[in-house]
Amino acid sequence: MTRNPVRLAAVGDVHWHVERRRTFHHHFETIHEVADVLILPGDLTGSGLPEEARLFAEVLSEVRVPIVAVLGNHDMHTENTDEVVRILRGAGVHVLLGGGDGVTLRIGDVSVGLCGTKGFCGGFGARCLTPFGEHAIKTFIDETKTEAERIEYDLSRLQADLRVVVLHYSPVEDTVIGEPRELYPFLGSSLLCGPIDQLGADLVLHGHAHYGSENGMSDSGIPVRNVALPVLKRSYAIFEFSPEALMNNRIERRSA
Ligand SMILES: [Fe+2]
Ligand SMILES: [Fe+2]
Repeated sequence: MTRNPVRLAAVGDVHWHVERRRTFHHHFETIHEVADVLILPGDLTGSGLPEEARLFAEVLSEVRVPIVAVLGNHDMHTENTDEVVRILRGAGVHVLLGGGDGVTLRIGDVSVGLCGTKGFCGGFGARCLTPFGEHAIKTFIDETKTEAERIEYDLSRLQADLRVVVLHYSPVEDTVIGEPRELYPFLGSSLLCGPIDQLGADLVLHGHAHYGSENGMSDSGIPVRNVALPVLKRSYAIFEFSPEALMNNRIERRSA
């Protein structure tokens, strides 16, 4: 029997602001024709204003497939985070804040598990910031560690045929290449990738690095994709997974 592939659409950094509707041709109203889920990896709004969230929620109300999102730094700028989350959740969006809110969706015979959180900064590899010296430095990198712990908590509980991690900040250096090197420490952190490599996932999506690269990979070979709108230069990216391959994964996991 031939089954349809599971199709995920993803676009980050939409940065919806009050005037956006006139300029952004989002094609969200027809997304059900090409995808089973829409994933929004943060920076949904221009500056986290409730009005921006309301206008974007109006646009999202046209979408006929489940929507899963994380917040970005822009969504926190005006410190209306609770209100922004309330508005988006009120519109039916699964807003993932991490640490216990992963979701599992059923697409045909396949279970699709998604967990996520915003993530934070710190840099990559041997140059990743460490908690040494001033209290402010320790507080800064503690934020990243807490975000990594949220990923670990959710991923360790996510049982699904297809497991997807959604972040705003990048967990790998590959997908920030193209940005000025001076900005790398503020575009993501390898600390976010630790639990992903340890616990496994099929796909990691993020945004934030507007001038970065689309394709990357974790140390253990997990595909990482930067789906920031300015990187994609198209309305969204589509990721397809064959149910047969996912079923084989399921059998392998059971016998592992
Ligand atoms: Fe952004
Ligand atoms: Fe951002």
